[in-house]
Amino acid sequence: MKIVILGAGYVGLTTSACLAELGHQVTCCDIDAGRVAALNRAETPIYEPGLGDLIKAQMQAGRLAFACDAKQAVGTANAVFLAVGTPSSEDGDIDLSYVEAAATEIAPYLPEGAVLVVKSTVVAGTAQRLKRLVDTRRGRDDIAVASNPEFLREGSAIEDFLHADRIIIGVDDAQSEALLRTLYRPLTRAGVPLLATRTVNAELIKYAANAMLALKIGFINDVADLCEALGGDVKAVADGIGRDHRIGTAFLAAGPGFGGSCFPKDTRAFASTGRRYGRPQPLIEALIEGNEARKGALAQRIIHAAPRHGRVAILGTSFKANTDDVREAAALTIVPRLIEAGLEVHAHDPQPGAAKRLLAAAHWHDTALAATRDADVAVILTEWDEYRTLDLTQLARAMRGRLLLDFRNIVVAQEAARAGLDYQGLGLPAAP
Ligand code: NAD
Ligand code: UGA
Repeated sequence: MKIVILGAGYVGLTTSACLAELGHQVTCCDIDAGRVAALNRAETPIYEPGLGDLIKAQMQAGRLAFACDAKQAVGTANAVFLAVGTPSSEDGDIDLSYVEAAATEIAPYLPEGAVLVVKSTVVAGTAQRLKRLVDTRRGRDDIAVASNPEFLREGSAIEDFLHADRIIIGVDDAQSEALLRTLYRPLTRAGVPLLATRTVNAELIKYAANAMLALKIGFINDVADLCEALGGDVKAVADGIGRDHRIGTAFLAAGPGFGGSCFPKDTRAFASTGRRYGRPQPLIEALIEGNEARKGALAQRIIHAAPRHGRVAILGTSFKANTDDVREAAALTIVPRLIEAGLEVHAHDPQPGAAKRLLAAAHWHDTALAATRDADVAVILTEWDEYRTLDLTQLARAMRGRLLLDFRNIVVAQEAARAGLDYQGLGLPAAP
């Protein structure tokens, strides 16, 4: 099939490379000319494990190309995917302007019978709204609009796409359903379940899934706080509750509050949709508030632990491991508050991405050890493998103080104690 993907970000690039891997002919378009030029030199603009190699292989195989001019590319496409950004607008709702602009731009150039597929995360009703927009632009009703929400996680995007738990297709007509079933046949043949439903349901599934996952994280973070007060161990509690298959062990790692480009914005949009339709979502409203408060509370914890004008090492600025994405990362709240409080911040991340620019007031280092030199307090904010295997004896020697705050619970407390560090995790008992 001939596929065009609009948007060469985390989702657009992964979808493009993976659909090419499945045998389709894919053109990925982006309005960012610099990004497209880099991709045409086989340089991947984001850090995502395995993505660069897959893109190169698919380009060499002649199944994947990059372009700026979407109008020309869509002219012969069977399906056009919208994978452009849907950021939060100021009132917490979703900003659909990129999606609408992309659909408006290409609408007149779509060949009759093509299907426009919304992969971006959008509020319920958007596919139907885009259908009306496209019909108006074309002056006829010959393009179907479908929804195909994406469930990949950054850091494991390719694996998540090719071995998805399920594929959701939102279809309001037989033509879209037939096309999307054919498109995904290599995956469904390999055992990935495909659920076909109406577009409104597909859109709701995406938001409800993210809200549910974020609730799990918010809940375990609250449990971690309780564990701390009672001398309990949140890892043991998470394991114990997670073994109940109705709960499941995934997404029960206590941390500095969920971040990233999706959970914060999607929970805000979910809450905002509830308010708009007179069906408030109090659980999600409380979750959003608690998650933001958590980042602030952890910043205070560091400030109280550090000496006045002291030096703090921040290990990890990405919102999670294996990505260079810093959107709504805990570090973006915590680091500025430390600096405001008069602390000197020394930072490291294996893939700092935009963090160096966004946190320019911090002193940046190329290695974790260099960031911790002469630090009074060291704080782990991202669960990179590199921090799991830190040489704790060297770290203790490099630091001026002794306190290691592990806000991802990735260091073994006994090993930290053996190295002479005062170790504190989140929701873990005091060091032995
Ligand atoms: P991103 O910000 O990384 O990339 C979006 C890209 O779209 C940018 O490169 C931008 O230049 C481009 N763009 C904007 N307007 C365009 C247009 N008219 N034509 C072509 N390109 C255009 O975004 P992302 O993280 O890939 O997210 C995209 C969508 O997928 C969002 O709705 C997001 O909520 C959703 N989503 C993201 C993830 C994730 O892990 N990042 C996972 C699932 C769903
Ligand atoms: C999340 C979802 O997991 C994907 O299914 C979804 O497609 C995506 O959002 C999206 O809609 O964009 P992602 O944001 O890439 O994926 O990363 P996650 O692994 O979900 O982590 C999100 C945040 O929660 C991170 O800050 C992470 O550190 C935090 N988290 C996650 C925890 O604090 N504890 C956990 O147990 C899991």
